[in-house]
Amino acid sequence: MYTLTVTTPSHQYPIFIDTDLIQHPAKTFASFVGKKVVIISNDTIAPLYLSCWQNFFKQFNCEVSNIILPDGEKYKNGQTLNLIYDGLMQNRADRQTTLIALGGGVIGDMAGFAAATYQRGVPFIQIPTTLLSQVDSSVGGKTAINHPLGKNMIGAFYQPQAVLIDLNTLSTLPQREFSAGMAEVIKYALLGDIEYLSWLEKNIEHLMVLDQATLAYAVHHCCRMKADIVSIDEKENGIRALLNLGHTFAHAIEAEMGYGNWLHGEAVAVGMVLACHLSEIIGYLTPDDTERVVNLLKKAKLPTTPPMMPFDAWLNHMSHDKKIHDGKLRFVILEKLGQAKLIDNISSDMLKETLAPFLVC
Ligand code: NAD
Ligand code: GLY
Repeated sequence: MYTLTVTTPSHQYPIFIDTDLIQHPAKTFASFVGKKVVIISNDTIAPLYLSCWQNFFKQFNCEVSNIILPDGEKYKNGQTLNLIYDGLMQNRADRQTTLIALGGGVIGDMAGFAAATYQRGVPFIQIPTTLLSQVDSSVGGKTAINHPLGKNMIGAFYQPQAVLIDLNTLSTLPQREFSAGMAEVIKYALLGDIEYLSWLEKNIEHLMVLDQATLAYAVHHCCRMKADIVSIDEKENGIRALLNLGHTFAHAIEAEMGYGNWLHGEAVAVGMVLACHLSEIIGYLTPDDTERVVNLLKKAKLPTTPPMMPFDAWLNHMSHDKKIHDGKLRFVILEKLGQAKLIDNISSDMLKETLAPFLVC
């Protein structure tokens, strides 16, 4: 089992990573569990994993109940959040109750936000079941719901008590979802670790068939990078913003296409290619660098070109993005592969040149 620690000014918590994590002796995890546990999951994941995690938590002699939500990004909203509050009230959840987010990033973000706000904050544990949530969303305490005008617009920084990553859950994850998670895995290499990029290029075939040791190494490496970044900059005042590589473009694609139609990771993959093109225009990357990124994304079965969209639509969606700073759009660009930087003086002309092949009137 790999164990890592995230340390923020107010809180420290472990990330446990293993295949068959659920089989580890319960005492390893006992200190994170309250007298009452409410598992929050969805109607896809619950039939697969709810009963085994219910049994797991019953080992701690605590009262275990659950709240099952409809599945999908389109339900990551205030209405579904209210269903969580309803369930917590009905179960008489109190401040000693631990919420368990059992699912992908949608469940993790919503359950986390419910934990941050219910009775002004109750403890919660992340049990991420998608690759994306294991390497990214479950770590670092960003919680949120979407607003019709923007993704993840309503939320809080709220750290979990622990993150329990059982890699076995990936065996039931649809291929498309696994690939979406690979976009975030590749993101870490591009933004901060050229050696990891080379390692991924050598091992991508093993990862795509879920070779367990390769997968455990890859997930651990990403979590370590994220834990290090979050430990330095919990609230995204600096280095954490680099984790948004590709995301300004990605959020525009997701909003334009309707939340959930493009998977977040698919949009991030295309966003990273666009960030590479922008970096070329600025004079940092070469076309060969971009080609290297495109090839790796293709091996991970990810899209590498955006849908055709009008320039105004890009600008409109980007203007609602949280990464706007002093009224200026901020982009993460690559000075070279494995080294990212934040830049906010991108002109509309540069943006148009980046997107030119993909613009419709
Ligand atoms: P998701 O949560 O929608 O899960 C994808 C699909 O896979 C869903 O249908 C889900 O029910 C299903 N699923 C989950 N685990 C499964 C399993 N083991 N077996 C079979 N099916 C399974 O999507 P996601 O990609 O995990 O997360 C995307 C969300 O995460 C977005 O809302 C995004 O905004 C958010 N996100 C948050 C952060 C953060 O830092 N908080 C970072 C990145 C993304
Ligand atoms: N997914 C970006 C972050 O956690 O900051």
